[in-house]
Amino acid sequence: MIMKTQAMQIIDGKQVAEEVLAECRGDLGKLRERGVTPGLAVVLVGDDPASRVYVGSKARKCGELGIYSRQIELPAETSQDELLGVVRELNADDAIHGILVQSPPPKHIDEATVVRAIDPAKDVDGFHPENVAKLVLEDPAGFVPCTPAGCMRLIASTGIETAGAEAVVVGRSMIVGKPMAHLLMAKGADATVTVAHSRTRDLAAVCRRADILVAAVGRPEMITGDFVKDGAVIIDVGINRVDDSSRKRGYRLTGDVAYDEASAVCRAITPVPGGVGPMTIAFLMANTIKAATLRG
Ligand code: GUN
Repeated sequence: MIMKTQAMQIIDGKQVAEEVLAECRGDLGKLRERGVTPGLAVVLVGDDPASRVYVGSKARKCGELGIYSRQIELPAETSQDELLGVVRELNADDAIHGILVQSPPPKHIDEATVVRAIDPAKDVDGFHPENVAKLVLEDPAGFVPCTPAGCMRLIASTGIETAGAEAVVVGRSMIVGKPMAHLLMAKGADATVTVAHSRTRDLAAVCRRADILVAAVGRPEMITGDFVKDGAVIIDVGINRVDDSSRKRGYRLTGDVAYDEASAVCRAITPVPGGVGPMTIAFLMANTIKAATLRG
């Protein structure tokens, strides 16, 4: 008997992100002909080191593409009212098409209130209730959150048939888990979706059902090899800092998936870093361009 063996695929997020960015460059060229330069404002409250890295990468990517970017760094003591004032100014600013307030904010700030203050037409994160509704209603005019949009594109890049497939999303966050579940079940993707979370009974058994496994819990390497179905496609959204004294910076980055164990079983997997991370930034650029295109 001839056994058909298929090599395990490491899903190259940088390469797929480049494809998205190439599309962005085309769209930017069309906007430029109309005299429009998209503008993105990124607001960071406090000095969380990981958030600072993300915000820096977003600004750098804007610079590379020729998107105007404004980085607004506010001290950790900034009051909610002050932050709401900044958001209102950005809502009224014609040079700004997209507004992103980096999550998580300091504890004294109610994130839901801040998100609701952002003009939905500038909500490039897709977190405003109006955009959440559009996602659920499958209205293409809304903004889809960047990380789940990126994960869908990575899944598509593997060539796996999503229609009728069993998809398990581990994590029910507003930023990733919930929107991811909606995208997977939407018409066109047509997956059968299970959302698992911290209260799920026998998580390993639930995950082993998955043809497509999306891990978005923020717990280093909690998805071990025994959670993985033979031939599954794994999207690892986790970016966890784990102490590592052998590294100069004192930590290493690891996903929510135990990569070596999982990759012995699965058909395709995203690495950390270099998997989902570059996709989030690429879709933030795409959403900012979409906001500018819709406003005209
Ligand atoms: N923190 C982690 N991911 C994100 C994101 O996509 N948007 C915002 N605003 N904050 C985040």
